[in-house]
Amino acid sequence: MQLQLPEASVEAQRASRLLHNLIATEIRLQQGWISFARYMELLLYAPDLGYYSGGAAKLGKDGDFTTAPEITPLFGATLAHLTAELLVSSPALQPQILEFGAGSGQLAYDILTELAAGDNGAAGLQAYYIVELSAELRARQQLKLQAFPQVQWLDRLPASFSGVVIGNEVLDAMPVELVLRGAGGWLQRGVGLSEAGADGGDGQFIYIDRPAEPALIAQIPDAESLTVGHLTEVHPVAIGFMRSLGAMLKAGQGGVALFFDYGFPAAEYYLQQRDQGTLMCHYRHHAHPDPFYLPGLQDVTAHVDFTAMAAAALDTGLDLLGYSSQAAFLLEAGIGKLLLRTPPEHALAYLPQANALQKLVSPAEMGELFKVLAVGANAELPARFSRHDRSHRL
Ligand SMILES: C[S@@+](CC[C@H](N)C(=O)[O-])C[C@H]1O[C@@H](n2cnc3c(N)ncnc32)[C@H](O)[C@@H]1O
Repeated sequence: MQLQLPEASVEAQRASRLLHNLIATEIRLQQGWISFARYMELLLYAPDLGYYSGGAAKLGKDGDFTTAPEITPLFGATLAHLTAELLVSSPALQPQILEFGAGSGQLAYDILTELAAGDNGAAGLQAYYIVELSAELRARQQLKLQAFPQVQWLDRLPASFSGVVIGNEVLDAMPVELVLRGAGGWLQRGVGLSEAGADGGDGQFIYIDRPAEPALIAQIPDAESLTVGHLTEVHPVAIGFMRSLGAMLKAGQGGVALFFDYGFPAAEYYLQQRDQGTLMCHYRHHAHPDPFYLPGLQDVTAHVDFTAMAAAALDTGLDLLGYSSQAAFLLEAGIGKLLLRTPPEHALAYLPQANALQKLVSPAEMGELFKVLAVGANAELPARFSRHDRSHRL
């Protein structure tokens, strides 16, 4: 496929070729085939060269996509107030936060800034932990958060944690497997190489399909009803992550984990109409479906199957505390009140914040597509959150 997208710099193209060669070498070592999840893992997280591990700007205006904390500090301020409320209402929670995949560090910055303002009862937050896979983003976060000595970076999930866990757009950044309904049954779509070019250089990436393990297809409800040619994703990495999170919170004996992301319950995810799946690439704010384009220079992501995430958490003994649209969740958490701290008469300050909030909650933008899944142990969300709860749809 020929894509007409903004041209990458010579240096970026060189890094992309290095990543291409690294992946091609692994494909050869693996007898010509790697799973799509392994391909996506290398694309995003290969040391120094993967999209998240390498030098791409990634987030914000100069990057490839934007996220709620990059849009407005009201997002982090709202989560700061909710954390304060949770710490008061659920005494089993230790006064600490663990954030997964902190990106530029903006969300941590906004939460800690709001808490430091001190009118919300949680100024006594003992620690703010960050687990970040990308060394490049971790370095950015360290720079951004130098004024906050309570921030500590962890190399992996701790065995036990009590407190509030936050992940914004982290589950969608976890590698997925592609599966395809073939005439003779379900296939797993992996990545191989075309014949090497006449110059002896590396071949191009191509899809190679193999019969799928039944365990992969078991993640799709009513898989047999989907017709030949149906392409979709399953999420073994994110499911494994939710299981580890569950074990961590159970061991900590008190926790609330909040995941914000785009996605659907399984019954909507695996609809016959969604027959090309949800895999999407973002390059300089252009979205397209080709994960072979400029490896390492574009984000590759898939929507989240929230039913599978909730089921994995429940399997480990966590409780399902809530599932709702991002709009309902943020409004219930008080984002509207926080906007009104800027008086509407001060139009120059108020209007940009009001527009940003509109982006987060409008059903035509992020309000409906983005959901919030809350799971936990020995804790609950405040009762008002049940008004718009959609847990029954999972
Ligand atoms: C789309 S970015 C979102 C960044 C940030 N949360 C935001 O909202 O701006 C995805 C982030 O998740 C991180 N990530 C992906 N898988 C992870 C995992 N298993 N543990 C921790 N971080 C992870 C990536 O390195 C990156 O920082």
